[in-house]
Amino acid sequence: MRRSTSTTSSKSASAPPRPLSGTRATAVIAAAGSGSRLGAGGPKALVPIGGRPLVAWSLDAVRRAQAIDAIVVAAPPAHVDELRELAGDDVAVVPGGASRSESVARALAAAAGEFAVVHDAARPLASPELFDGIVAALAEDPGVAGLVAAAPVIDTIKRCRGEELEVVETPDRSEFWAIQTPQAFRADALRAALDVPTERLATATDDASLVEAAGGRVRVYPVAEPNPKLTRPVDRFLIEALLRERETLTR
Ligand code: C5P
Repeated sequence: MRRSTSTTSSKSASAPPRPLSGTRATAVIAAAGSGSRLGAGGPKALVPIGGRPLVAWSLDAVRRAQAIDAIVVAAPPAHVDELRELAGDDVAVVPGGASRSESVARALAAAAGEFAVVHDAARPLASPELFDGIVAALAEDPGVAGLVAAAPVIDTIKRCRGEELEVVETPDRSEFWAIQTPQAFRADALRAALDVPTERLATATDDASLVEAAGGRVRVYPVAEPNPKLTRPVDRFLIEALLRERETLTR
């Protein structure tokens, strides 16, 4: 794809090594959330983080990823023009839906190609190398429908019941992973999995769960680097500190 020189390009960008031969994917960026839990008074994707709109960090990362050859963004319906302006003319911007997976389904309808990599704009630290790595790993394993970025769970997990939150089980922590984005899929498998009623889409907290429900095999792609999600006001401090540190290291 044409690499944009819009406001989303980074001064410190240096092309990562090309890890793939002929594997190309469309990045689908879910950016249509309201941001109500953040309390920013506007859509989360446009909240300034580290001096630029949140979604600009993800756009930079997918532009710099060698595996990505097209980008589709699901935008808050009332802010489509603003997102188009911000993203540049090499990015397709579509109005998002009422739920996250509905937004992904709408964006996927505008995507072509064998692989689709879904990413939440709310995770601005995902790197070009992470996108390249997850697409390469998917391409190397024809037996799976998708790979999900994830980190090992570090807290002990307990299953609790009722209003009293009585503990009923402490499962083996080593089997649990905290699931993030990006999530890379064979596009046909994701399309089929998202072809369910909007009420079902609304219950999904990630896209892989819909692929799993449709019978697709999904594997974890372990991520060592911090890849936090901007959800609550307090997350902003951590994310801005990590972005500052990364910019300093790459300068
Ligand atoms: O709300 P949550 O933090 O789980 O949202 C995760 C991502 O999904 C965010 O990047 C948000 O913009 C996106 N989203 C969306 N459409 C919605 C709701 C959330 O694209 N209707």
